[in-house]
Amino acid sequence: ASPSVVLGGGVRLGVSSRAGLALMATQDELKKQVGYKAVDDYVKSGMVVGLGTGSTAAFAVERVGQLLKEGKLTDIVAIPTSVRTKEQAEELGIPLTTLGTPESRFSKIDVAIDGADAVDPQLNLIKGGGGALFREKIVEECADKFIVIVDDSKMCDGLGPSFALPVEIAPFCWEHTMRAIAELPSLKGGKPQLRLGSSANNAVDGKDPAVTDNGLYIVDVFFDTPIADAPKAAAELKGLCGVFEHGLFCGMTTSVIIAGKDGISQKP
Ligand code: 5RP
Repeated sequence: ASPSVVLGGGVRLGVSSRAGLALMATQDELKKQVGYKAVDDYVKSGMVVGLGTGSTAAFAVERVGQLLKEGKLTDIVAIPTSVRTKEQAEELGIPLTTLGTPESRFSKIDVAIDGADAVDPQLNLIKGGGGALFREKIVEECADKFIVIVDDSKMCDGLGPSFALPVEIAPFCWEHTMRAIAELPSLKGGKPQLRLGSSANNAVDGKDPAVTDNGLYIVDVFFDTPIADAPKAAAELKGLCGVFEHGLFCGMTTSVIIAGKDGISQKP
């Protein structure tokens, strides 16, 4: 049987085995290029750094660990956006903290680096394919600079059709919350689906709801046409009882570093 490439919560791409492996190798190389470049360009000794989650962000974490080990970066403290990223950072010996510490130094983050599932022309994002949207959003909101790292497959004309919108909801009365999401005027045409799987990291087939690091469920909202007004949709989702956080990251991006076959570009 042909394998499928799981691109996150919203997209699963069926490919022949050889083409699939080649595609994954190429995409991994592009992810590594942007992950390393973001760290090389934006992380300096003495900084507090927000570490994103996902296969692209993992390369940025790897690079921070590498530069620390080589002594090219010193006095770094990092805040991970998921249990997975925390574990990777610990393995690499990156000193960690949380936003909850009383020292004022740690109430502000110098730079956060993370991947995204979709990036629109205004640099608004869909995130949360890996289920880490809440921790990502709170860390990235606290950052002076939020650097997004993607391969060019993530760039889109409008958010929605290329990747389903993840919404993190309370397990209690989840069916009710899912119906309420479907009825939001700004999400017209969106079809919510409860994410199933053994972890919220990826949408994998399974009969039990996927559970996030926060003990909550994820609903993925699928769209045939772009969300007309992403900031309005973000506000309406936040107004719903039962919704904890959503994967629309509007007006947060400082810069996007994009890797494609023809090289690396950056916006703005
Ligand atoms: C996790 C995320 C990821 O940043 C997003 O899913 C992109 O992941 P990848 O780099 O693996 O494509 O939002 O919640």
